[in-house]
Amino acid sequence: MERMDLLNYIRGDWVGADENYDVVNPANGEVIGSVPKGTERDVAEAIDAAYEALPSWRELTAEERAGYLEALFDLMIENEDELATIMTLENGKPMKESRAEVQYAASFIKWFAEEARRIYGKTIPGKAKNQRIQVIRQPVGVVAAITPWNFPAAMITRKMAPALAAGCTFLVKPPLETPLTALKLMEYCERAGFPAGVVNTIVTPDEAFSETIKNSEKVRKLTFTGSTEVGSLLMKQSAEHIKNVSFELGGQAPFIVLNDADLDKTVAAAMASKFRNAGQTCIASNRFYVEAGVYDKFVEQLTEQVKKLKVGNGLDEGIDIGPLINKEGFEKVQKHVNDAVDKGAEVVCGGKGEEKNGGYFFAPTVLKNVSDDMLCMNEETFGPVIPVQKVETAEEAVGLANATRFGLAGYFFTESVTRGTKIAEALDYGIIGWNHGAPSAAQAPFGGMKESGIGREGGHEGIEAYLETKYISLGL
Ligand code: SIN
Repeated sequence: MERMDLLNYIRGDWVGADENYDVVNPANGEVIGSVPKGTERDVAEAIDAAYEALPSWRELTAEERAGYLEALFDLMIENEDELATIMTLENGKPMKESRAEVQYAASFIKWFAEEARRIYGKTIPGKAKNQRIQVIRQPVGVVAAITPWNFPAAMITRKMAPALAAGCTFLVKPPLETPLTALKLMEYCERAGFPAGVVNTIVTPDEAFSETIKNSEKVRKLTFTGSTEVGSLLMKQSAEHIKNVSFELGGQAPFIVLNDADLDKTVAAAMASKFRNAGQTCIASNRFYVEAGVYDKFVEQLTEQVKKLKVGNGLDEGIDIGPLINKEGFEKVQKHVNDAVDKGAEVVCGGKGEEKNGGYFFAPTVLKNVSDDMLCMNEETFGPVIPVQKVETAEEAVGLANATRFGLAGYFFTESVTRGTKIAEALDYGIIGWNHGAPSAAQAPFGGMKESGIGREGGHEGIEAYLETKYISLGL
């Protein structure tokens, strides 16, 4: 693919800047294109554009707004190859995963085009005979979004589609690692005919965006996917003008295997949950607790599958694991493995990273004899490492699983409906995979408990997050 030099998209125009950022392929360090270093003025201009576009956008019928989203959906599907290639080039994920992400990202557009038609109100009997109460739902207003590099398309559409469907207008700051996918999406929005100002994308330094948003009374909602630390800061900043917030933050997902689990199914689920995007997902299983009766067998079967994974440049045929996003991420993964080994863990396979031709690759790793004092059992590793700790009972596993400030996704495996139902209810997580390692779906309310976030994305809850409630008290 040719070098891509893309511009920011504000008020329906393609806007450059005095300075540019290079965009780098994490598989080999090559510069694949550039994007503008937007300024605070650009962010302010995008806010004004979204604010001015709001009255006419919210006045459209749900049918009309859905029509624009459906046109965008069609363009994404028609251009799957183009978008997937850009994604692999700037994020590193294997082509098969990038294609799957285009489908996943587009599924939010389709789902919320349909949900636009189901924004229902209600009527309530009045307090007096001559009173009627009508409850209506209306768009919150201008929405600002900050999205991460691990899902360069889907984390935008999961926010943008419900916002637009609800009648809000939208601006997004994509990450510096993967801005090209975001700007390409804007190209599709332009082709789909969205009126100027309804969607805007500004690549800009973090502070330029967050400070301008913080100080703006026009932005009524901030939505963010990223770390708990940044989420906490953004929440404080949102207090300035009492903005609505939806945050999807860090995870620390437990993966519990009980003695009566179907091990073939469990191993397949572990592979799906752990190695998607080289382990760089917020819902990746991070720490494994396996009952003593199946511990050895599980480690053996799992290792057999892990050894088959092929690591390399995501553009190459047959690759399962691409590079980690950068040196910092790579060093964290190595630190977690080294710490575990220093504290007595045994490397069953993998265990080492390699810097190769400017890319940071980490061998898929299984660790056994793991204990709960190790870093990998207490912090999100964000890499292809499976640490397996032996437990004696389901209760012990659930206790360890809940002993964290995080609560995004949790997985467990048992064939017993009675035990499983109790465990599902006991785990303090917003997303539960019971005998299942790939729970993400446009129709489900994705989000975390505790310090893993606030609000839900996807499902009907996903559009609720962009609506205000108003009641009208009518005197007869
Ligand atoms: C994430 O890692 O933040 C999102 C994963 C998903 O949507 O499946």
